[in-house]
Amino acid sequence: MNNKMWGGRFADSPDAIMEEINASIDFDRKLAAHDIAGSLAHVAMLGKTGIISKADAAAIREALERIRGEIEKGEFSFSRSLEDIHMHVESRLSQLIGGAAGRLHTARSRNDQVAVDFRLYIRDAIDALDSQIAALQRALAAKALAHAGAVMPGFTHMQPAQPVTFGHHLLAYVEMLGRDRGRFKDARARLNESPLGAAALAGTSFPIDRTATAKALGFDRPTANSLDSVSDRDFVVETLAAAALCAVHLSRLGEEIVLWASPQFGFVRLSDRFSTGSSIMPQKRNPDAAELVRAKSGRIVGALTALLVVLKGLPLAYSKDLQEDKEGTFDALESLSLCLAATTGMVGDLEPDVARLREAAGAGYATATDLADFLVRDLELPFREAHRVTGKLVALAAKKKVGLEELTLAEMKAIEPRLTKAVYVVLGVENSVASRKSQGGTAPANVTAEAKKWLAALKKRG
Ligand code: ARG
Repeated sequence: MNNKMWGGRFADSPDAIMEEINASIDFDRKLAAHDIAGSLAHVAMLGKTGIISKADAAAIREALERIRGEIEKGEFSFSRSLEDIHMHVESRLSQLIGGAAGRLHTARSRNDQVAVDFRLYIRDAIDALDSQIAALQRALAAKALAHAGAVMPGFTHMQPAQPVTFGHHLLAYVEMLGRDRGRFKDARARLNESPLGAAALAGTSFPIDRTATAKALGFDRPTANSLDSVSDRDFVVETLAAAALCAVHLSRLGEEIVLWASPQFGFVRLSDRFSTGSSIMPQKRNPDAAELVRAKSGRIVGALTALLVVLKGLPLAYSKDLQEDKEGTFDALESLSLCLAATTGMVGDLEPDVARLREAAGAGYATATDLADFLVRDLELPFREAHRVTGKLVALAAKKKVGLEELTLAEMKAIEPRLTKAVYVVLGVENSVASRKSQGGTAPANVTAEAKKWLAALKKRG
């Protein structure tokens, strides 16, 4: 069968392999709702400007609405021979209303049509992701508030560095996710222009009203250059870049959950709902969801890379290469959505082992910096000298295999004669975190205030 949409020029049907490589309907059917929304805006404008008759416009509109219902109910039949979603809708339209269907494509091309559809799709995806990220921020901030004062080791180089609080650690992720939302918001603001009316690449000779269609579709304005309109996929790249970074943040949290849930750390307990067992080792509680969140960042970063490579070196304006923008993007944004849902579930259920965290916080001479600071503040030693003295005290404690607080005052005085028993106050982990009151520091009072601030902001803005 010759293609109905361009059959005039062709004598032969496409080869089966041609059809297979060319068809996008297997994935671009996801754009059906957006495609119909774009067509409804276009036909309303064609009718209003008198480019087509009011009667034809009304018939097309009614048929489009019927098709939307058929697709929603799963009653629509898809076939590779009709290539993509745009041709499916148009073909069904002509079955329903005959000749008038052909007028819908006046002053339009699939090139501007797909650009509209994809912008609408990405815009919806960003809005949905934004609420999901906010929900995760809320779960993290609530957990942070509940454990604002729970002391745990803070690490650098994966070595115990200084005590922090569990709430402070969780709020670090709330900050990252806040930046992620900012990036999605920026991408959304820039994408919100309508390419409809750019037609194939050069615009059209019909007296279309691009401002009207832009407004009908919730865009801020029409795009300015028709060539750019049909070849631009920056909005997808920006969204995937934001998604990739967000996925990397989730992956870092996933990695921490994997470590923390291991018996060696024993920092947290994952709920049964977010753990799996082993078919052979009865003792196992595996953090599969956290591992998969960690791993799925790979396909999301991959989608960004793949699209950048598709675009690199592509001449203006439209080329079929641009059809390759979709599968990876759908997969990436759906994967991110799943990762956000899983992470929110895990975080909500996560129970820190507060006693174990506290015990670990004191290990590894984590209050050595507090001791050095004490020498500076109370004995007025220069910091470098205090660092050297503390190093000697740590070496002595390590040799004796005891904690700093277990050294006797006599042992300490042998190294620094000016030390007094006041030093013991700063050696406790609670004192250490309580003293970190600098802005952004880990003091429980700070953490409580920050968690409350976030929860209030998240309530207001959603
Ligand atoms: N399925 C196509 C895509 O996703 C639609 C645009 C086709 N345009 C064309 N000139 N063949 O890019």
